[in-house]
Parts: sequence; structure tokens; C-alpha cells
Amino acid sequence: MKNLTLKSEVLVYEDRSELPEDIANLLAKAEEAATRAYAQYSHFQVGAALLLNNGVVVTGSNQENAVYPCGLCAERTAAFSASSLYPEVPFHTLAITAINPVEPLKEPVSPCGSCRQVLYEYEQKFNQPIEVILSGQVGPVYRFRCVADLLPYTFHAGFLP
Ligand code: THU
Repeated sequence: MKNLTLKSEVLVYEDRSELPEDIANLLAKAEEAATRAYAQYSHFQVGAALLLNNGVVVTGSNQENAVYPCGLCAERTAAFSASSLYPEVPFHTLAITAINPVEPLKEPVSPCGSCRQVLYEYEQKFNQPIEVILSGQVGPVYRFRCVADLLPYTFHAGFLP
């Protein structure tokens, strides 16, 4: 096959000691946020820390409900909170991690499709890539340049009439 390239869009830190300090600090805030999850049904605690262009970090954790679909993921909790508090401030970097109370999570948590779609909206709104950092409790940390890399062939406002 000619003229075909398959590019991996992720930077993998196999060793956490290699993480730049600002990324490690943001991840620590996501870890803290995960401890504030309301996850009494899944017992899977997710934390997100969103650094805005103004330097403010807005955190979120998953919020569950007895009516399961009413719950919200950590990423959307953080994104909606940030957009409500600072509607005109672009999102710079989002760090996400999770706590599995049964066995430490060995691979980076993977944001669901709905969260990717929501984050993509803000990437488009501000015309600025949102860096995404994904982590488990141990093991590698993934770093993506932008949400678009996590959601190819995205539905976007351009399709709408
Ligand atoms: N969850 C998140 O908050 N973010 C993710 O990236 C994956 C899943 C939450 C939703 C639900 O409260 C629990 O984790 C189990 O799916």
C-alpha cells in the first residue's frame, strides 16, 4: 500500500517520573477530585481537572443517580462547570483519572463518547486545542494534543442547517 500513513496521536509516558511538573500537578488535582465522586452505584470514581487559559483549575467528579442515566461523568461535570463559571475563557488542558476500589486501575481511563463530543464543542467554540491527559492509578499516562484526535469524523455544528 502506497501513500498511506497510520499515525499514532498519543504521547505515552511509561514512567510517571518523566511527566512535566505542570502536568503532574494537574493530574494530582484530578486524583483529588476523584475522591469527591458520588459513585455509590458503580463504585468507579473518576476525577477531572480542567486548566483554563486564565490559570484557574476547575475540577469535576462523576455524579451518579438511582436513575442511572441521570448521572454525569467527571469530564462533563468539569466542562459544564467551567463553561458556566467562565463562559469566555478557553479550555487549555484536561487531566482525567479514576479510582477502581477493587483493584488499582493499570491503564489510562478512557473518556466516553458523549464526553468527547462535549469537549470537542468547546475546542471548536474557542478554536483552541484542548490537551488531554489520561491516567490510571498506576502504569502509563497518555497525552493527546487535542480532543479532535480522540474523536475522528466528529459530528459538528457545520452539519446543521
Ligand atoms: N465515568 C466517568 O465519569 N468518566 C469516564 O471517563 C468513564 C466513566 C463514570 C460514569 C459512571 O459514573 C462510572 O464512571 C461508571 O461508568
